[in-house]
Amino acid sequence: SIDISTFTKQTGYTTIDQGFVNTSSTQSKITYIDGEKGILRYRGYSIEDVATNSTYLEAAFLLIYGNLPTADELGEFDEKIRRHTLLHEDLRRFFDGLPSSAHPMSVLSSAVSALSTYYEESSSVHDREQVEISTIRLLAKLPVIAAYAHKKSLGQAFLYPDNSLSFVDNFLKLNFGTMAEPYEVNPVVSKALDRLLILHEDHEQNASTSTVRLVGSTQANIFSSISAGINALYGPLHGGANEAVLKMLGEIKESGESVEKFVERVKNKEHGVKLMGFGHRVYKNFDPRAKLVKESADEVLTALGVQDPLLDIAKELEAVALADDYFIERKLYPNVDFYTGVIYKAMGFPPRMFTVLFAIGRLPGWIAHWREMNEDTNTKIGRPQQLYIGEPARDWPVR
Ligand code: ACO
Repeated sequence: SIDISTFTKQTGYTTIDQGFVNTSSTQSKITYIDGEKGILRYRGYSIEDVATNSTYLEAAFLLIYGNLPTADELGEFDEKIRRHTLLHEDLRRFFDGLPSSAHPMSVLSSAVSALSTYYEESSSVHDREQVEISTIRLLAKLPVIAAYAHKKSLGQAFLYPDNSLSFVDNFLKLNFGTMAEPYEVNPVVSKALDRLLILHEDHEQNASTSTVRLVGSTQANIFSSISAGINALYGPLHGGANEAVLKMLGEIKESGESVEKFVERVKNKEHGVKLMGFGHRVYKNFDPRAKLVKESADEVLTALGVQDPLLDIAKELEAVALADDYFIERKLYPNVDFYTGVIYKAMGFPPRMFTVLFAIGRLPGWIAHWREMNEDTNTKIGRPQQLYIGEPARDWPVR
């Protein structure tokens, strides 16, 4: 047997695989997906078990280090993250140069990229100590940056992190607390947000994770690689779908259009309109995360006493679509983003923060993949082939 690059060199054959529907760019031990059976496992543990029994930080430890932590290990990990939440004061001022109207995803990727200017030593990508401290810094600081992006859009003062609080409670306080009044974390919101973050932690070679790996394959530092991943997540066909779903539901409500009529327009591909939050490259029967999110939507809205007509529209859309041949033939089901927006809205987050929440969720996965790739001595720089279909060689015109 010969490896694929030798085969390509010797034969000149290459495959064209637009959208990488059948190309494995790597081997990985982190996450297993069986799209036909709707199975998702983090390091061998089912997503249902992780979401029910774990916390965001424990699942992050599992993804990054490969095994569940002992109580001491988890305590130490949590403690280290709490100690690194503060941003450099100059970085706090970095936000002053950005407009309040900026989309928080752009703010997030810019600020994460800027982190590497404070930690130049992170360019030693094979130095274990550097990788370790950068991991902690990212986990600790991303939620703070995200909350500042939110506060900036509201024109409110940034709060300093309260490191006596848990990861999620601290994040909620940074977003919803003010200088003027004490802030009480609602345990229902805290638990539900923790669960939603867990569900987003990793999803093997999705567009943003593949971006992190591709950028990281050049031996770019982890901050720059993850900033690139955040930009990839921003698009409405990926993480931006949660914001797009809420916009779609709002438009249906405002226009008074029936759900059936909207679905007809989707089926007719009218101006490329899609049922946002539906369909997945990998899941062809159901997305196991979507099931768990739907359960949370009912629980959280009931516990918060929120009655949102958008949740009713979402449920009606799901029922109509799942009974329709267009969706059945194409194996289109609700994905993780279909119900998340309704929950985030009930928690008080504006739609432009939804994809930022996805980014905080996905961070441990990005870190785990970047580390796995850098620890593999066989990693090659990512460099896809192309099939040239342009002009043949031409003579330069006499002018
Ligand atoms: N609404 C209507 N039709 C759809 C949808 C949808 N949401 N998704 C796919 N289709 C149709 C396509 O138009 C295509 O139809 P055709 O065979 O008549 O041409 C067929 O289903 C196959 O779709 P592809 O685009 O080839 O599927 P692909 O695997 O490339 O795309 C994707 C997957 C991007 C998720 C797609 O389903 C989509 O755009 N969904 C809406 C956006 C979304 O929810 N994104 C979040 C994805 S999950 C995540 O990132 C967390």
